[in-house]
Amino acid sequence: MSGKATATACANIALIKYWGKRDAERHLPTNGSISLALSDLQTVTTVEVLDEGSPDTFSLDGRPASEAEFARLGRVLAPLRQQAGTAAGVRIASVNHFPTAAGLASSASGFAALAAAAAAAYGLNLPEADLSRLARLGSGSACRSVPGGWAEWHAGNDPDGLDSVATRLAGPEHWDLRVVVALVATGPKAVGSGTGMARTVATSPFFDGWLEGVAQDLPQAREAVRVRDFSSLAEAAERSCLRMHGSMLGAVPPLLYWQPGTVAAVQAVWEWRTADLPCFFTIDAGPNVKVFVPAAHAAEVERRLLAVPGVTGVRTSRPGGGVTLSGEHLF
Ligand code: PMV
Repeated sequence: MSGKATATACANIALIKYWGKRDAERHLPTNGSISLALSDLQTVTTVEVLDEGSPDTFSLDGRPASEAEFARLGRVLAPLRQQAGTAAGVRIASVNHFPTAAGLASSASGFAALAAAAAAAYGLNLPEADLSRLARLGSGSACRSVPGGWAEWHAGNDPDGLDSVATRLAGPEHWDLRVVVALVATGPKAVGSGTGMARTVATSPFFDGWLEGVAQDLPQAREAVRVRDFSSLAEAAERSCLRMHGSMLGAVPPLLYWQPGTVAAVQAVWEWRTADLPCFFTIDAGPNVKVFVPAAHAAEVERRLLAVPGVTGVRTSRPGGGVTLSGEHLF
């Protein structure tokens, strides 16, 4: 067998957050989540099948991948090899097309592109749900980058995670919003999301409250996206973000990803929204603040964010689509 395929996937930002795993091995979440893919943050991955018995090779942005990066590949490649009935290794070349120091993780776009390119290279024509499940095995949030657009990752009940996949709520053209990332710091985070989640689940007395809140946030956000109700989405998304961070504060030892610039940006967004500007924020496991805004107001949000103390730069992105193979939409 010798196939070669190139896939492209967008990063995504969660509005209703994923925080907590019920199965760390399979990346099965304790709760569902809802996200928007970002077209200006993409990973392009080429996978080429080598001769039987050849070891895998993996280059990332033109350099050999680190051991930790390499170790996660097998989670996605092993099930594909099993399904294709081959032991052939692959050559993987992955390039992140992210604006310099975007302050955003590339694992979601990376694993979604890897799953699609590797499946095609091994000659497998997989449905969206299978690719979403495979991407999830690399990094949980990557399953949402397979459908792209406005996507919902269903927590599922199956112990093997067969029903823990993301589906599309709406395409990128559904709602002309922008996401402005306010950069507060761009270095690597002190505690990764996997460790942070495990600590929160194991030690935070607020974790149950976080989960109870998601039950309300998910249907509200789903409906707000459907009818393009900006203020309802703002309410659900900020609540989800703040309760997720609240659950982290209760962990032992506590997790606080925020910097002074994070707090300043949050307070500025609240002020602007009360005064004259429709916008809302979300924050992941890091200090940068992502501000959602109708396209017509994006330039104004950029301008104002740059004046917030502690904000060192802004990067704006449009809604993005799902994974593509050689530029063709798969689903
Ligand atoms: O999939 P991971 O391990 O990168 O975790 C993502 C966690 C958050 O970004 C904080 C929330 C989310 O839903 O993306």
